[in-house]
Amino acid sequence: MNIDGIPTRSLRAYPEQRAIAIIDQTRLPHALHWLRVATLEEAGHAIRSMQVRGAPLIGATAAYGLALALDFEASDRRLAEAAALLRSTRPTAVNLHWALARMEGALAPLPADARCAAAWAEAAAIADEDVVQNKAIGRHGLALWRDLIVADGQVLNVMTHCNAGWLATVDHGTALAPVYAAHDAGIPVHVWVSETRPRNQGLLTAWELEQHGIPHTLIADNAAGLLMRNGRVDAVIVGADRIAANGDVANKVGTYLKALAAADNGIPFYVAAPCSTIDFACADGAHIPIEERDGDELRLLHGVDERGVPSALRQLPAGEDVANPAFDVTPGWLVRAIVSERGACAASREGLLALYPEEARA
Ligand code: MRU
Repeated sequence: MNIDGIPTRSLRAYPEQRAIAIIDQTRLPHALHWLRVATLEEAGHAIRSMQVRGAPLIGATAAYGLALALDFEASDRRLAEAAALLRSTRPTAVNLHWALARMEGALAPLPADARCAAAWAEAAAIADEDVVQNKAIGRHGLALWRDLIVADGQVLNVMTHCNAGWLATVDHGTALAPVYAAHDAGIPVHVWVSETRPRNQGLLTAWELEQHGIPHTLIADNAAGLLMRNGRVDAVIVGADRIAANGDVANKVGTYLKALAAADNGIPFYVAAPCSTIDFACADGAHIPIEERDGDELRLLHGVDERGVPSALRQLPAGEDVANPAFDVTPGWLVRAIVSERGACAASREGLLALYPEEARA
C-alpha cells in the first residue's frame, strides 16, 4: 500500500541491527508512529497490547520476535521458552501458532550457532509469502465481484468489519485486497466501514483507505443492517482469525451479526484469508478459543484531546461488570465463499479440501 504515495510494508526488518520496525496501531488514526522492536519481550508486548494486530501481521511479528530472542542464546531451551512466551500473547488468531510452529520446525534441527541467521531468513520468508498470498487473494476476490457489476461505471458498494487490510497484514490486506485490486483496476468502489467497538479497528480501515484514495464511509456498528436492508450494500467481505476445518469462521466480534443480516437480505458474504489462517486441526467453530479482553476496553473511551495528546475518558465506573469477547464465530453456511491465495471455495470441509487436497492426506 502507499503511504504518502510511497509503497510501504506495515513491518520493516533490519536483521543487521537485530531489530524490526512496526507501526504503533494504538496511536492510529491520530499519529503514524513507527516503533523500534529489538527484544523478545518488546515483540510480545507489541502483540499483546495490540500495537500490532490482525492475524497475518501477528504471525509475522511473532516470527521476528523469535529471531530477536535468539540473538545471544539459541539453545533448545531458549527456543522453546521464547516460542511459549509469544504463543501466550493472543489465543484466537491461529496465524500466531502457525508462524511459531513453522519457525520451530525450521530451527530445531539446526545447530545452535546457525539458528539466529536462519530465524531471520525464515521470518523474512513468512513476511514475503504473506505479501504474495494477499495479492493473490485480491485477484481472486475481484474475480468474484466482477459478477456483481451489472452496468459500466457502477459503483461497487462493499461493507467490511474490523480491519483486515494493509495494517493487519504485511501488505495488501486480506478482505481489503480485492478492494485495492478493484480500485487499481479502475473499478469504482466504495467501502462501508463499521467502527468495530470497542477497539475501533474500523478507524484503522478508514485511515488506510484514505491513504490509498479509496472512497469510504464510517458507520456505527449498529447501522450495518439498515444499510443492507436499504439496498446500499452489494457485498460484505471480512477477514478471519481462524477458519475451522468445517468452514466456520472466527473473526472480530460483530462479524456474525453482519453475516446474519447479509443472509436475510440476499447479500453475498465473503471471507478472505490466507492458508495460514485455516486450522485443519480444529474440527469446527465451537473448538476455536475466543479471546476475552480487559473490561477497561469498554469502560474507557480512547482518543486524543484538543491538543492531539492521547487521552482516555471514563464512560463506566471501574467496578462495572462487563464482558468483552474479542471475536465471534460465523457458521460456514452463512459464508458465500472463502477466498484464499489459491482461489475461492465453499465454506465447508469439502470446499476447503478441494483447495487444499494435501490436507486430506495429512
Ligand atoms: O483483535 P484484532 O484487531 O487483531 O482482530 C483482527 C481481526 O479480527 C481481523 O478482522 C482479522 O484478523 C483478519 S486480519 C487480516
